[in-house]
Amino acid sequence: MRIAGSIAVALGFLGAATASLHPRSSDTRDFFALHLDDATSPSHVAQLLGARHEGPIGELVGHHTFSLPRDQNLDSVLADLKQKRKLKRRSESESAIHEDALDGILWSHRLDAPRQRLHKRLPPHLPSVDLTPRADKKPEQAAVAAQKDIMSTLDIRDPIFKEQWHLYNTVRPEHSLNVTGLWLEGVTGHGVVTAIIDDGLDLHSKDLSPNYYPEGSWDYNAHSPEPLPQLVDDRHGTRCAGEVAASKNNICGVGVAYDSKIAGIRILSAPIDDHDEAESLNYAFQHNDIYSCSWGPMDDGQTMEGPGVLIRRAMVNGVQKGRKGKGSVFVFAAGNGAPYGDNCNFDGYTNSIYSITVGAIDWRGKHGVYSEACSAQLVVTYSTGSGEAIHTTDVGANQCTPLHGGTSAAGPLVAGTSALVLSVRPDLTWRDVQYLFVETAVPVNEKDGSWQTTSSGRKFSHTWGFGKVDAYAVVQRAREWELVKPQAWFHSPWQRVHHEIPQGQKGLISRYTVTADQLKEANFERLEHVTVTMNVNHTRRGDLSVELRSPGGVVSHLSVTRDRDEEPVGYVDWTFMSVAHWGESAVGVWTVIVKDTEVNDFSGVFTDWRLNLWGEAIDGDNQPLLPLPTEHDDDHPFEAAHVATTSIEPGPVQTNPPAGPEDHIDRPMKKPPPPKPTDPSPVEDVVMPSPATNATNATASPTSTDESKLSPYLPSFGASKMTQVWIYASLGMIIIFCIGLGIYFQISRLKRRRTNPHDDYEFEMIEDEDELQPMTGGSRTRRGGELYNAFAGESDDEVFSDADDDGPYRDRLANVQEEDEDAAEKASPGTGLLSEKR
Ligand SMILES: *[C@@H]1O[C@H](CO)[C@@H](O)[C@H](O)[C@H]1NC(C)=O
Ligand SMILES: *[C@@H]1O[C@H](CO)[C@@H](O)[C@H](O)[C@H]1NC(C)=O
Ligand SMILES: *[C@@H]1O[C@H](CO)[C@@H](O)[C@H](O)[C@H]1NC(C)=O
Ligand SMILES: *[C@@H]1O[C@H](CO)[C@@H](O)[C@H](O)[C@H]1NC(C)=O
Repeated sequence: MRIAGSIAVALGFLGAATASLHPRSSDTRDFFALHLDDATSPSHVAQLLGARHEGPIGELVGHHTFSLPRDQNLDSVLADLKQKRKLKRRSESESAIHEDALDGILWSHRLDAPRQRLHKRLPPHLPSVDLTPRADKKPEQAAVAAQKDIMSTLDIRDPIFKEQWHLYNTVRPEHSLNVTGLWLEGVTGHGVVTAIIDDGLDLHSKDLSPNYYPEGSWDYNAHSPEPLPQLVDDRHGTRCAGEVAASKNNICGVGVAYDSKIAGIRILSAPIDDHDEAESLNYAFQHNDIYSCSWGPMDDGQTMEGPGVLIRRAMVNGVQKGRKGKGSVFVFAAGNGAPYGDNCNFDGYTNSIYSITVGAIDWRGKHGVYSEACSAQLVVTYSTGSGEAIHTTDVGANQCTPLHGGTSAAGPLVAGTSALVLSVRPDLTWRDVQYLFVETAVPVNEKDGSWQTTSSGRKFSHTWGFGKVDAYAVVQRAREWELVKPQAWFHSPWQRVHHEIPQGQKGLISRYTVTADQLKEANFERLEHVTVTMNVNHTRRGDLSVELRSPGGVVSHLSVTRDRDEEPVGYVDWTFMSVAHWGESAVGVWTVIVKDTEVNDFSGVFTDWRLNLWGEAIDGDNQPLLPLPTEHDDDHPFEAAHVATTSIEPGPVQTNPPAGPEDHIDRPMKKPPPPKPTDPSPVEDVVMPSPATNATNATASPTSTDESKLSPYLPSFGASKMTQVWIYASLGMIIIFCIGLGIYFQISRLKRRRTNPHDDYEFEMIEDEDELQPMTGGSRTRRGGELYNAFAGESDDEVFSDADDDGPYRDRLANVQEEDEDAAEKASPGTGLLSEKR
């Protein structure tokens, strides 16, 4: 009996495995993506390469997947063909078609085997949510009456609507999405489709089936048209879908946009490769308007992972071609790694300029203890905390859950709000939608020390983004919104730094000055996103932090230290993103400060960086579309960088005369002055205030005041070849000029090795009050390349309770003091997360 049972189970597994066998899973073949020009057909390319054409890659025009037997290598096949062609140039018999096919290959990219992305993990030992009624959950009678009115006016008979505090909060009326006023105006999401990219969508749920949109749905795990939940824990997508578009009926509750349509795209329940993931992000993108994504790389505080280049191409393709050229709206949950010191700038999805990154606030207005902060976070909205969670639809014909949560539950509320926005203004572009959230977000907990007033007059916090979403305000703003002009960009040359990073709270400063002429040349009018791509070679990545300061003095903490991150690589071509500079003037000095915060055996070198500004074009009619991304953008010019270091120690009192104006830090390093290394050079005590502790204005910004003090500057050894030339010249080493370059380099290397960076007189000493953080160092289990849903787990006891939130910053700059609204609440247990970490 038992044996028979086991066999049945085994057969069942076998059956399931066969059903979900990946079409491109093979031990014997290698798969690669090619981008072909319009004139080149994939069959000709296949013939030419001796490869098998596996099929087009979704909506990426000209992109196809091919495969070769594993013993053949695409690069050598291509090289062979080019060589043969060269030899046969004179031969008229060579097929013209084949030649064209070879030239028609614009780009190639090897595809990794499908990766396991089934890690819906909740960080362990989470306290469970407390759903017992408490004194502080007494509803306000006026709110209860108003809610009753709304329900009767709109004929809402959904049994759990009254529990859906995120839609109407009778206990804390100020804490909800503020959406019911829109419903009363008839704004319910009609005509808009949101695709939930997740672990499935129960299209047979009676709460979802009325709004289910089959044409926008696909199952990339089972390779079938219906994204049905199949695994026991495939509940997450269904719950998210209910938040967006559960219909107004007598089942469970309602969605934010309860007359909008909902599609399901299933990718999280089995390994998938980049081909499928790229396809999923563009799936039916003329019908699916919004893509709600509550997942990402592991939020374990040690992963630094982003979408591969094919997936990044799909995202660019989505915003350029989706929604008939208006652009797909991507919404991403910020991530639940805050207890592990994680930060959403280490996640290449949440820090993409194409995604609206959403963090969590709870029903009492407190920050979700799990919710990651970062400079790429746009807004926050409601989810778990303070003993409550999101009440929504669950898997089953008539099933609800009171326990949906994490940032996973916050993202879909913004997706639903976006559906309301697009139902009123379908002509808005993806950037207009981002603008509307930026413009209407409501700052919360403004006294928590995390807010900066930017020079554009907006407030920004790494913890809260621009604030919490007010659905009513977003939609009203959308009604009158004037469309922004197309996107323009400005890329600085790569800034070559190649300098050791001093340890401790010293930092290495590099600056780049953007001129008005450069922006004009780039057809660049108004700043939106800023990205910094950088390389830092370091033996313990978690020790590093990076700040970006704008000309207006606004500070972005692009990167923060992470106790658990022991990866011995530093940052490799990583792009950090910030929305904090939205609307600022981009003209002036942009400063990057890289710190190696721990004095220990781990050290590194700041290699290079590059500033990228994204915004609105001056002349929209003559603005081309951004080219699709490639693996590396090394083909751009390099130039030597401005370099200096900072220190937290109050520097010695200035005794030496400052260097002349020609030594000012802002002068281009391309033509450095001959420094005088033999002179005792001044070390100025320059205070760089901790910026997030107070508002900063363009006129009264820390950086602009500091700038005037940053006068003595001498370029460091190793800063650039030019600099070294000058140093050697001024040392009187005339012989350097007489011998070959090779010898020059050898000496240069020797010299650099002898130079103790701490003795470098030419560095500015800048006061900084950052506290050293104790290193707790977690176990090092790297799980790169895995996606998991951002709330993970989903078993019903795995919801967070509130705890005072320290935020993800080890830096004290953004430490957030929760408002103690309620002493009893504060005294309640529930700090397990943080105490466990510590
Ligand atoms: C919510 O929406 C209403 C309109 O229905 C608006 O008057 C109000 O100011 C909004 N905000 C809050 C916090 O209620
Ligand atoms: C990083 O530094 C180490 C040690 O100095 C060196 O071996 C390695 O090649 C460097 N890596 C890169 C990418 O520069
Ligand atoms: C912040 O700036 C205001 C002036 O706008 C000042 O009064 C206040 O003391 C500052 N707070 C801190 C913490 O520096
Ligand atoms: C910022 O500027 C505004 C006016 O532009 C001023 O009222 C405010 O006090 C300034 N804040 C700081 C911190 O300087």
